[in-house]
Amino acid sequence: MSFDRSIKIAPSILSADFANFGAEIQAIEAQGADWVHVDVMDGHFVPNLTFGPPAVKAFRPHVKTFMDVHLMIAPVDPYIEAYAEAGADMITAHVEAGPHIHRTLQAIRAQGVKAGVVLNPGTPAEAVADVLDLCDMVLIMTVNPGFGGQKFIHSGVEKTRKIRQMIGDHPIHIQIDGGITPETAPLVVEAGADVLVAGSAVFKGGSVDTPEVYGENMRAIREAAEGARVKAA
Ligand code: DX5
Ligand code: ZN
Repeated sequence: MSFDRSIKIAPSILSADFANFGAEIQAIEAQGADWVHVDVMDGHFVPNLTFGPPAVKAFRPHVKTFMDVHLMIAPVDPYIEAYAEAGADMITAHVEAGPHIHRTLQAIRAQGVKAGVVLNPGTPAEAVADVLDLCDMVLIMTVNPGFGGQKFIHSGVEKTRKIRQMIGDHPIHIQIDGGITPETAPLVVEAGADVLVAGSAVFKGGSVDTPEVYGENMRAIREAAEGARVKAA
């Protein structure tokens, strides 16, 4: 079977109603989300705080698709087991979070979950060259991590193109996170991305009572992205 490079939309529940995660997750999945993206922040590696392992464990039964846990924490290694046990399908860790990204990715895979490596906007593509054999995904940040609703940083487009070349035929996803909208999605898809995280652009204007708005928002991103894929092919 060939590797799945179709466009996948991964809403970030950082933009969901924090008093109603179970219903929010069910709503985005019912409206067509491919993955659910969980942003874990520690108030140290990034200037914001979010979800510990018990919170992620509480999300798990609501996620029927694929739970992608983005760790923005340092140190990361002491917490890998807890997030794997909480039910992550994939754990991504930042190159910048410590001196031993190779060891971190080994530790994630040792838990039997998929492993991803993340690059901040200020980190060059080359930083992942020697760990690609340990990765199921490379996540390219197109904002400085910490908050939803920030402006897309355009240098991520060329970085995506470089990483797509480095990956070649290897079964590795390219995920983009930060400022994804129907306007920016085509830029990164044309450069080689296949997984699009979006927080504010998915949740804006909707709620669990008006979930069809989430569906329309996701459809707008997906259609714009798929149009770029056709052009690139
Ligand atoms: C930023 C997070 C993102 C964020 C994206 O630190 O990693 O996942 O929620 O939000 P938007 O799509 O609003 O930029
Ligand atoms: Zn994220």
